[in-house]
Amino acid sequence: MTRLEEDETDVADLSTTFTGLRFENPFLLASAPPTESESNILRAFEAGWGGVVTKTIGLHPVVNVAGPKTKFLRADNGGTRLSMAKRADTTLMASWNWELISDKPMDWWLPQIARIKKAFPSRILVASIMAGSGDDKELHAWQTLTEGVQDAGADAIELNFSCPHMDRVDMGSNVGKDPVLCSMSTQAVKAAAKVPVWVKLTPATANIVEEAEATFRGGADAVVSSNTWPALPPIDPDTLDFEVHVDGYVSSGGMGGPAILPLSLAKMAQMTQAFPDRAFSGIGGISDWPHALDYFLLGCGTAQVATAAMLDHAIGPNVIRNLTAGMTAFLERNADRGWTTLDDFRGLRRDRIVAQSAIRRASEYHGGHDAEGYAPPSDA
Ligand SMILES: Cc1cc2nc3c(=O)[nH]c(=O)nc-3n(C[C@H](O)[C@H](O)[C@H](O)COP(=O)(O)O)c2cc1C
Repeated sequence: MTRLEEDETDVADLSTTFTGLRFENPFLLASAPPTESESNILRAFEAGWGGVVTKTIGLHPVVNVAGPKTKFLRADNGGTRLSMAKRADTTLMASWNWELISDKPMDWWLPQIARIKKAFPSRILVASIMAGSGDDKELHAWQTLTEGVQDAGADAIELNFSCPHMDRVDMGSNVGKDPVLCSMSTQAVKAAAKVPVWVKLTPATANIVEEAEATFRGGADAVVSSNTWPALPPIDPDTLDFEVHVDGYVSSGGMGGPAILPLSLAKMAQMTQAFPDRAFSGIGGISDWPHALDYFLLGCGTAQVATAAMLDHAIGPNVIRNLTAGMTAFLERNADRGWTTLDDFRGLRRDRIVAQSAIRRASEYHGGHDAEGYAPPSDA
């Protein structure tokens, strides 16, 4: 074996196949400001992202609020203050957004998608789309978007059933809260789609397994979670105004970033346990390899990043470098277990989440039923 061949065999294989598509690495930029334009997406692929999900594209006109669309919540190091005010000696907790979907029309996006695919044919470009679901016209809008983006060259389509701040009752997370709408809209897209269809569900429901089941019934090839969680900015104790507002008013927006990692993992675990043979893409609070590993160990086949990339030169060149370096080092560290690709460790901790009563006790325990808090008081 020549020296060159030896070096090549030493290189860890980060590639993976997800919904039939081959990814050079399992890391994608999530649909958000980092993916709002051709120039950003080209920069993202140059930086090494295995895939990109475009900012969500719709057919209806979009006008954003007359103020900041995104802010970051930080905690004082060693203190208690939680605030969006920019200041030194703090740690990032979360992003907060009330940005709507792309304010650019589909006709603006289609040539961009075509040019991006031409420049990076082997990278995966996923088009995120959104329409309503209240009537046949809206279901047809899903199909118009589907045909447009796939003809332009998108490798897959992600249906946005998850944006938390839509006023329309038949759009965004309002679709993701209704299993019937989930199923119907997915079915409408599948009738027109020639490429894999991913569905991004809202985490803001009682039992996400029900909505996941409905989208799979509608034909979804993968479920993606989480979008941002419904949230408000804090109120300034001096001015008594919300820290983000327009004319004193605010509406519920969405929280992303480090604070949602454990929340999002819990939702993901519910779904990967219920559907161990299905494909899942994990999002929420990922900024480095250990966070992505959490999702992979629960059974996800890809991982997506928004907030961390927004804070790193807009498209996350350092984030993707750390993710790929972290995964490479992990595979090398575990080579003696025979692990050479993501599939060798994917889902390994999915079965470690069990009912409370199945966890070993410090002493005998009756599940709260007998001889403990819930037992009827004795006469003694
Ligand atoms: C400012 C901002 C805009 C976003 N816009 C979209 C969007 O258009 N479509 C979508 O599906 N998700 C959107 N998201 C959600 C992200 O894709 C992602 O699901 C969420 O931020 C959680 O990931 P993170 O913790 O890495 O930020 C947006 C998030 C932020 C912070």
